[in-house]
Amino acid sequence: MPVPLTVIVLAAGKGTRMKSERPKVLHPLTGRSMIEHVLTTAAALAPERAVVVLAPEMDAVAAAVDRGPLAAVIAYQEPQLGTGHALLVAREHLPRNGEVLVLYGDTPLVTPDTLNQLLEARRAAGAAVAVLGFRPPDTTGYGRLACDGQGLAAIVEERHADDTLKREGACNAGIMAFDAARLGPLLDALEIKQPKGEYYLTDVVAHARARGWACTAIEGPYEAGLGVNSQGQLAEVEAILQRRLRRAAMAAGATLIGPETIFLAADTVLAAGAEVGPYVVFGPGVRVETAAQILPFSHLEGVTIAAGARIGPFARIRPGTEIGENARIGNFVELKNARIEAGAKANHLSYIGDALVGARSNIGAGTITCNYDGVGKHRTEIGAGVFIGSNSALLAPLTIGDGAFVGAGSTINRDVPPGSLSIARGRQTDIPDGAARIRARRRSGS
Ligand code: UD1
Ligand code: MG
Repeated sequence: MPVPLTVIVLAAGKGTRMKSERPKVLHPLTGRSMIEHVLTTAAALAPERAVVVLAPEMDAVAAAVDRGPLAAVIAYQEPQLGTGHALLVAREHLPRNGEVLVLYGDTPLVTPDTLNQLLEARRAAGAAVAVLGFRPPDTTGYGRLACDGQGLAAIVEERHADDTLKREGACNAGIMAFDAARLGPLLDALEIKQPKGEYYLTDVVAHARARGWACTAIEGPYEAGLGVNSQGQLAEVEAILQRRLRRAAMAAGATLIGPETIFLAADTVLAAGAEVGPYVVFGPGVRVETAAQILPFSHLEGVTIAAGARIGPFARIRPGTEIGENARIGNFVELKNARIEAGAKANHLSYIGDALVGARSNIGAGTITCNYDGVGKHRTEIGAGVFIGSNSALLAPLTIGDGAFVGAGSTINRDVPPGSLSIARGRQTDIPDGAARIRARRRSGS
């Protein structure tokens, strides 16, 4: 019988050191919020119940939790009197038996593997509490794990730790597993601690040991405990996540040229045989099929790119876009909510928005779909095998039939029938000797 698991995510802290108006756990990492990362990790453990502790004003965080990958109840903490107090306010949601796992909303790098090891270690030791330790290069601010012959004896906050413990003790990642049946009395024993005037969750270890209950600790990788308290740490965590994503993409058979310059989103899917050049940025929702090539300095978001297509260099692709097999999207082409069918080409300097470009059609340099009339957005539908001459403006709503040919420099504001040659531009006038005459006139000042 699996032991029923309740996960509690503590996220009510103010995060003042971020110096940002945005709640700390809504800062983005690889295209999704920090809290979503933590909830995704929690979801991998298939908990029976999940609770997120927030401050009352955190409406945007509550909304992100509701949209998130895990059904969770929200407990509100006001005022925020520390990590122990955060558990006290969630008390009505705590089960009487099974296991409780405490995670932090601002510690997003811990993996399901490490958490399973922690849960296993608690069960194996029959412990009331198991704590995740780690050894970061900079230990400032972390509590330390004090061990004795019987396992974990206490967690001592840095300000209360002596020099030996500070030097030698593993740091407390903050992540803890509890035997739910013994958690209640441990929470009852918590008291406000000075000078911070807070309930320290970390005190549960000493309280457990005072009752003769075993406690244990494991040491996880450095990343598992890396918390985000500042913009610098946010960037550090992003860099670690990027390295993980690039490694996974390459292991799955994608070719990344200059991988350290390529930025992926958590949900980017690169098929085996896809190739990505340097300085490409993936926003959320991108899928690239095999033998497709993304050339340098392209920015992609919300797009599926079929096999053999070639994008960039310097292409910008915005959400709602689909690119067919062997299509070509070249430099300084922007696509938005556009379907580009197989073998179609837009190779230079274009904006194609709210549009369909049929198979094998060619969009000339500088073509613009004028999709916005100042009030609403309108669609442009271009059939198969169409040729749009360079520097054409296509005023939507508009349909251009299969096989049509639009002359360069046209401003098209009416539907073009299939097979039509349509030209809409001023006629050219040629005046023999006109060049010499105009120069003479200018020189004489008349
Ligand atoms: C805590 C630990 C410390 C550990 C460190 C790891 C305590 C007393 N100390 O310290 O041993 O090394 O984390 O990062 O637990 N939170 C609430 N409500 C509160 C206070 C905090 O929900 O009233 C949440 C925060 O949003 C955050 C987490 O709990 O996600 C940790 O809070 P924080 O204030 O950063 O704790 P530390 O002082 O870093
Ligand atoms: Mg902290």
